[in-house]
Amino acid sequence: MLDIISFIQTIGYVGIFLVVFVESGVIFGFFFPGDSLLFTAGFLASQGLMNIWVLICGTVVAAVLGVSVGYAFGLKVGPMIFKKEDSLFFHKDNLEHTKHFYDKYGKKAIILARFMPGVRTFAPILAGVGKMDYRSFISYNIIGGLLWGAGLPLAGYYLGNSIPNVDKYLLPIVLLIIFLSVLPTVVHILSEKQSRDKIRNFAKQIMDKRVKLLAFNWKMNPETLDEALKLAKNSDFKNAVVIPPFIFIEEVSKILKNARLGAQNVSGKNSAGGAMTGEISAAELVNLGVKYVIVGHSERRAMGETDELISQKLQNVLDNNLIPIFCVGESYGERKVGKEKDVVERQIHSALSILKLSAKNNQLIIAYEPVWAIGTGNNCSPEDALKMIKFIKNILNSTLSISNVRVLYGGSVNPQNIKDFLKYKEIDGVLVGGASLKPEGFYDII
Ligand code: 13P
Repeated sequence: MLDIISFIQTIGYVGIFLVVFVESGVIFGFFFPGDSLLFTAGFLASQGLMNIWVLICGTVVAAVLGVSVGYAFGLKVGPMIFKKEDSLFFHKDNLEHTKHFYDKYGKKAIILARFMPGVRTFAPILAGVGKMDYRSFISYNIIGGLLWGAGLPLAGYYLGNSIPNVDKYLLPIVLLIIFLSVLPTVVHILSEKQSRDKIRNFAKQIMDKRVKLLAFNWKMNPETLDEALKLAKNSDFKNAVVIPPFIFIEEVSKILKNARLGAQNVSGKNSAGGAMTGEISAAELVNLGVKYVIVGHSERRAMGETDELISQKLQNVLDNNLIPIFCVGESYGERKVGKEKDVVERQIHSALSILKLSAKNNQLIIAYEPVWAIGTGNNCSPEDALKMIKFIKNILNSTLSISNVRVLYGGSVNPQNIKDFLKYKEIDGVLVGGASLKPEGFYDII
C-alpha cells in the first residue's frame, strides 16, 4: 500500500496524467492500474498532499485526450490492427473482447469501458477502426472521461475526509477497488464460451505438468487382440499412457476411458514425402486418437535409427500436435567409463537443436532410459536417475532455452520400486516396459 502512495508521490501530477493518458488509448497502456491510482491520489488530496481540483482537471483532460488519440490511431490503422501478431504489449484477445463488448453495448461502450481495465484501452481504438461518427464519439468520450476521471479521485477524497483514521483501512479499500474494477472484465470474459475453453485448456496444461505420468510401453506384446483388450482395460487409469503395438491401437482406443493413447514409433516423413511402404504417418496416428509417440527408443536406435532420423521424427510429431516421448540414455560401457552425461547431452543436442521448438516446447517429454537398465531387472538407482534428470533439465534450460519439459525415468521400473523414483519432484513420471504387461500392480500407486 505504502508503495502505491510513494509511487504517486514520486511520479507527481505529471506522472498521473501520463499514466491516465496512456491507459486511455495507447495500446501498451492496458495493464496500468488506473482505478486504484486515481482513487489513492484522491485520498492523498484529502490528506492535504495534493490539490483535488488540479488532480481532477488534469485527469479528465488526460483521459479525454488519451481516448481521442486511441480513436485517431484506430481510424488510421483500421482493420490492419487485427492482423498484427501478439507481442508483450499487444494481445489480439483484448481486441476481440473489446469488439464483443461493442457488439453488446453499442456506443455506450465508450463510457462503460472506462471502468473496465484492459477493455478501457482498446475501446477507443476500435471506435476508430469502426469509423464511429466523430460527434457521438467525442460526446461519449467526454462523458466517460468526466465520470471516471473525476469520479474516482472524488471517491478517494470523499472517503479520506469522511472516515476517521481512514489510512488504516486504505489497503483493503484499494484492494476492493481493484477487485471491483477487474470484476466486470472478468465476468465479460467468462461469459464467452471461447474464453472459458481457453482458460480450461490452460488450467489443464498446468495440471498435466504436475501430475506424474505412467507410460506403459507394451513393446511387441501381446500376440492377440483379446489379450490386448484385456490389458488395455486393466491399464485404463488416470495419468496412464497406454502404448500398444500399432495393430492394436484402433481397438484399444475404444476401450480407454481414463488413460491416454500412445504409439511406439512414427515415420520421419509425412505423406507428401513419397511412397513409404511399411511406414505409419503422424497424421494417421492423430486420426486414431493417439496423443503421445515414443521417439528414439534405444531398441530402435539399435536397429539403426540415427540422431538425424530421430530429429525428423520429433519435428513431424510436434508439427502434428502430438506429444513426443523422446528417449535418451547411455549404454553400460559408456556409464562404466563415466561418459553418461556426454552421451545424453549429445543425443539431446543433435536431436533438439535443429528443431523449431519455440511454441511447442511445453509439449515435449524426455525419457531418461539408460540402456543397461532396460529389461534387465537392474534399475538405475533413483539417486543416479535423479542426478541425470536434473542434468537433462539443466541442459534444456541453459543451452537450449527450453523450460518446463517433463522428464521421465525408464528402465526396470516395477510396482515395488516406482515410488522410489516418483518421490522426487524433478522426476515427472516413468516409462515402463516389461511390468506394463501386469498393470494391476500399479493400481493406486500414482
Ligand atoms: P523395462 O521396463 O522392461 O526395463 O523397459 C523399459 C523401456 O524400455 C520402456 O520404454
